Amino acid sequence: MKAKTMFYCTECGNELPKWAGQCPACKAWNTIVEQPAETKRKSSAAVATAGERRGSIKPRLMDEVETTRELRFQTGMNELDRVLGGGAVQGSLVLVGGAPGIGKSTLMLQICQNLCRFAKVLYVSGEESERQIKLRAERLGVRGQELYLLAETNLDDVVEAVTALQPDVLIVDSIQTMYNGELSAAPGSIGQVKDCTMALMNLAKGRGVTVFVIGHVNKEGSIAGPKVLEHMVDCVLYFEGEQQNSYRILRAAKNRFGATNEIGVFEMGDAGLTEVPNPSEMLLAGRPQDTPGTCVTCVMEGVRPVLAEVQALLAPTSFNVPRRTCNGFDFNRANLLLAVLEKRGGLMVSSCDAYINVIGGLNLDEPAADLAMVVALASSFRDRPVPGDLAAIGEVGLTGELRSVNALGQRLSEVHRLGFTKCLVPQRTGAKLEVPDGLQLIKVRNIREALAFL
Ligand code: TYD
Ligand code: MG
Repeated sequence: MKAKTMFYCTECGNELPKWAGQCPACKAWNTIVEQPAETKRKSSAAVATAGERRGSIKPRLMDEVETTRELRFQTGMNELDRVLGGGAVQGSLVLVGGAPGIGKSTLMLQICQNLCRFAKVLYVSGEESERQIKLRAERLGVRGQELYLLAETNLDDVVEAVTALQPDVLIVDSIQTMYNGELSAAPGSIGQVKDCTMALMNLAKGRGVTVFVIGHVNKEGSIAGPKVLEHMVDCVLYFEGEQQNSYRILRAAKNRFGATNEIGVFEMGDAGLTEVPNPSEMLLAGRPQDTPGTCVTCVMEGVRPVLAEVQALLAPTSFNVPRRTCNGFDFNRANLLLAVLEKRGGLMVSSCDAYINVIGGLNLDEPAADLAMVVALASSFRDRPVPGDLAAIGEVGLTGELRSVNALGQRLSEVHRLGFTKCLVPQRTGAKLEVPDGLQLIKVRNIREALAFL
C-alpha cells in the first residue's frame, strides 16, 4: 500500500490536501511539494532525539557541553582542501554544485585515489553504470583497493549499502537522481531532493560518514538543486567555469567549518583535473600588450593574493541612454565609478557605451579593484594604452579620493613576483609597508593624480 502523503508550501509552510500550482496562502507558484505524512514529523535528527528523551528535556549550560576538535583528513587535492578550510571534516556533508559537464564527477573520482589509501570509500552513482565509472577511473589513473562502486538511485538501497559496508566516505553522484520510493514526486523535484539530502545528513551525523553530494545547477539556478539545500548541509562548494576554456574555479558558498572566501583553481585536461597552484599566472596568460582599455589589479581571494585583468571598452553611444554591461564586476559599482570619472576626473564618459569584463571567470567584489577599473576606463576613453608593467590597487571614493586597502604588502609582493615594476597605490598606505625591491610605488591621492600620471 502506498504510504500516506501530504502537501505543503516550501515558501510559507501552508498545508494543502492536494497538489496545486499556486499556493493559495502566499500566492507563490511551483512551491507545493509532497512529503510522506509521517516522515515530515520526524524528519530532523534533532527532533528525533529530542522525542526519545521526552520528559527529561533540559537546556544545558554552554560551559558544560564537552567538545572535541573536529577531525579532519586531507583529500589529497590541496586546492580542494583549502576551500574546505584545511581538509574535509569527518562526519560532515559537503555539497558540490555546478553546471552539468563542468567536472564534478571527475573531481570526486580523482579524490578517491588518495582517500582510498586510508579510508573505505563508497561511490554511489545514479548517472553512470559501474563499468562506465571504472572506465573513467582507469582513464584518470585512479585505482584503490578500498574503493567500492554502486550504481543505484533508490535511497533506501543506498542507506542499506552504507549500513552493511560501513564506509568512511560516501560520494553520491548526483542528488537529483536519488529518490525515496515513499514519495510519489519524480526524482529531482524539490521534495525528493530535500528528503534524500536529509537522509544522507542523518547518515553523516549518525554514523560519522563523511558525505560528498553532487548537485547539478542549471543556468538560471532554478532546478531543484544546491540552492534549496544550502541551509541543510554543512558546506556548499560551487564548481564554476566556462565550457570554452579549461580553467575551473571551486568556491565555498557556505562552510560551517571554515572561511568562505577561499578559491581553488583547476585545469581540465586529458588526464582529468590538475591543480593550478599559481592562478595569477594563468589569469594573466595571453594578456594583450600596448592596447588601450586593460589594467591589472590584485585582489585577495581568502588569504591568497590573485592578479586579475580588468578590461573596459568605451564607445560613443548611439542610444538615448548609454548601454552598460558588466561581466565579473558589480554593475552598480561600475556605474558609480563611471560617474566619479566624469565628475572628478573630467572625462565625458556619459556619452559612451561601456562594456566591462574581468578575464578568467573571476568575480571582483573587492573595492581594491576600483582603481584598476578607473584606469582601464580612462585608458579606453583616451585610446591610450596603460604601461604593460603597471598594476593598480586602491579603493575609489565618491569624491574621487583613493582609500587604502588591506593586505597591501602581500598584494605588492604578488604583483612583483609576476614581473610588474610599477604599481599605482593610494597615498596613505599604512605605517610599515614592505615594498619588494625593484617595484616602484606611485602614490596618488585621487583619481585626477592617477589620470595625470598616465
Ligand atoms: P564530468 O565530471 O562528467 O562533469 P559533471 O559530473 O560535472 O557533469 O566532466 C565532464 C566533462 O569533462 C566532459 O565534457 C569531458 C571533460 N573531461 C575532460 O576533458 N578530461 C577528462 O579526463 C575527463 C574525465 C573529462
Ligand atoms: Mg557527472
